[in-house]
Amino acid sequence: MEDVLILIGFMGVGKTASGRELARRLGWDFVDLDQAVEESAGLSIPVIFAQRGEECFRRLESEALEQTLQRGRVVIATGGGVVLGEKNRKLLAGSRVFYLYAPAQECLRRLRKSSTPRPLLAGPNPEQRVFSIFAEREPLYETLGERVDTRGLTTAEVATAILERLRADSVAATG
Ligand code: S3P
Repeated sequence: MEDVLILIGFMGVGKTASGRELARRLGWDFVDLDQAVEESAGLSIPVIFAQRGEECFRRLESEALEQTLQRGRVVIATGGGVVLGEKNRKLLAGSRVFYLYAPAQECLRRLRKSSTPRPLLAGPNPEQRVFSIFAEREPLYETLGERVDTRGLTTAEVATAILERLRADSVAATG
C-alpha cells in the first residue's frame, strides 16, 4: 500500500475532516496543506491573499506540497486550487490521489455552513463564483484523482470508503 494519500476536491467538500479521520484510522500523520502554508508564512490565508496576492499563496502552497511529499505514512488534505499548477499536478501524479466529489450545489451548501474564510469567494455573487470555478476545475480533479462520491456520506463514511478501496486493491495485488 502506498504510504502517501492525497485528497483533492472543491472548497468545502470535506477534505480536511475526512483526511484527518482517514489518518487517524491508519495511524498515520495528517497534514492540512492550507494550515502548513499558514504556518510557514506566519499569516492566515485571507491575509496572504490580501497582502501578497494569490500568486504568492500558490507558490507557498506548492512549496508546502513538495515538502510534505518527502514524508511517509501521511494523509494530505490539499486546498481546492492545488490542481491549478503544472508542477503540483506532476507532484500529485507520484502518489495515490482521491478526488472527493460533490456537485457544485452541494459544495455551496456545505460552504454556507463553514466558518473557514475563502478569499476566492469573498465579494459579490459567491454563488456564481462557485459554479464558474467548479466548472473550470472539475476536469482537473477527475483526471488527477480517483473519484469518491461524498453525496449523503458523513466524513467518517468517506474515510471508510477510501479505506475499503485501499484494502480491495491490496487484496487484489496479493491475489
Ligand atoms: C482555495 C481553496 C482553499 C484555500 C484557498 C484557495 C482554492 O482551501 O487553499 O482559499 O483555490 O480553491 P479549501 O479547498 O480547503 O477550501
